[in-house]
Amino acid sequence: MRNLSPKALAFRLSLFITLFVTAAGALFLYTAYGFHLGYTLLMFIFSIVISYGIILWGIMQFIDKKFRLIYKTIHNLKVGLKREPTSLDMSEDIFGKIREEVIEWDKTNRREIERLTDQEEFRRDFLGNISHELKTPIFSIQGYILTLLEGGLEDQTINRNFLQKAEKSVNRMIEMVDDLDEIAKLESNRMELNVQQFNLVDLTKEVIEAVEYKAKRKDIRLSILNNSNIVLVKADAAKITQVLTNLLMNSINYGKEGGKTTVKFYDLAENILIEVKDDGKGIGEEHLPRLFERFYRVDKGRSRADGGSGLGLAIVKHILEAHLQTINVRSSLGKGSTFSFTLKKA
Ligand SMILES: Nc1ncnc2c1ncn2[C@@H]1O[C@H](COP(=O)(O)OP(=O)(O)OP(=O)(O)O)[C@@H](O)[C@H]1O
Ligand SMILES: [Mg+2]
Repeated sequence: MRNLSPKALAFRLSLFITLFVTAAGALFLYTAYGFHLGYTLLMFIFSIVISYGIILWGIMQFIDKKFRLIYKTIHNLKVGLKREPTSLDMSEDIFGKIREEVIEWDKTNRREIERLTDQEEFRRDFLGNISHELKTPIFSIQGYILTLLEGGLEDQTINRNFLQKAEKSVNRMIEMVDDLDEIAKLESNRMELNVQQFNLVDLTKEVIEAVEYKAKRKDIRLSILNNSNIVLVKADAAKITQVLTNLLMNSINYGKEGGKTTVKFYDLAENILIEVKDDGKGIGEEHLPRLFERFYRVDKGRSRADGGSGLGLAIVKHILEAHLQTINVRSSLGKGSTFSFTLKKA
C-alpha cells in the first residue's frame, strides 16, 4: 500500500478523532439541553482544526527527529555534496520517498562496489602477471650475459646473436615498465597537454609506418581512406600519436590474417571525426560498456605475450577526455570493430 503524506495522514486521524469527539459532545449536549446544530457544528470545526494542527505538528517533529537526517544524508550522498539538500514537503508521501531514495541509493552503491571489485581484480591480475612476466626477460638476459662472459663473447657465431636477443628482452621489459608508468599517470589523473595545430593525415601516415612491420607479419593492410591530404586539427600531437598507435595495434593484434584496417576522417561542423575500422575478430556486445576500463581485456586467459595489459584503450579514453573529446566503439563478433573519436578542427 502506498504511504500517505503527513498532511493526509494528519487529516484522516483528526477527522477520526473529531467524529468521535463531536459525537460524544453532541450526545452530552443532547442529554443535558437537547440537540443544538450550531454548537455541534462549532464543536466539529473546533475539534478538527485543533486536532489536525496538533497531529501534523507531532508527525513533523517525529519526521524531523528520526528521518530528516537519514533522508538528507542519503540524498546528498547520491547526488554528491555540492547540491543543496532538498527540503521535505509535508504534502508529499515522505515515507515512500525515503524508501525509494534508500532503495535507489543501495542499487547505485552496489553497482559501484561491483565495478570497483572487478577493477581491483583486473589490477591484481595485472600486477601478478607483470611481475611474473618481468622474470622471463630478466632470466633470459641473465642467461645470455652469463654465456657471453663464460667464453661466448669470443665466439663469433653467437656473440652478436646473443646480444641482439638480450636487447629484445630489454625492450620487452621497457614496454612493461612503460605500462606501469602509464597506470601511475592514469591513477593520479595527471595529464598535461601540449596543444598545437598539425596535419592529421601526416601524423596518421607516420603511425602507420611505425606499426607496419607488425601488420606485415599478419598480412594485414593498413590504409588511409581520404581524398584530401590535409586535415588540420588542434591537439597534442604526441598524445594523438599514442591514441592512433594503440588503436592500430589493437586492430592488428585482434585482426585476422590477411585482413585490412582503414583510417577515415570526416569533417563535422567543429570537429574532425576519425574512424579506425578493422575486419578482425570483433568484440561481443556484453564487453562493449567496459572496454575502456583499466585492465579490462575481453579474453582474460590470454597471456601478455599475445596481447596486452588491458590499458591501451583506457589510455586512449583518458587522452581524449583530456582533450574534451569522446571515443565510441561499434563492433560485431566475427565481423570487425570500428573505433571513432573526435578532435577539434584547426
Ligand atoms: N580492434 C579490436 N578488435 C577486437 N578486440 C579488441 C579490439 N581492440 C580492443 N579489443 C579488445 O579489448 C581489450 C582491451 O583493449 P586494450 O587495448 O585496452 O588492452 P590490450 O590490447 O589487451 O592491452 P594493451 O593495449 O594495454 O597492450 C583487448 O584485450 C581486446 O580483447
Ligand atoms: Mg591494446
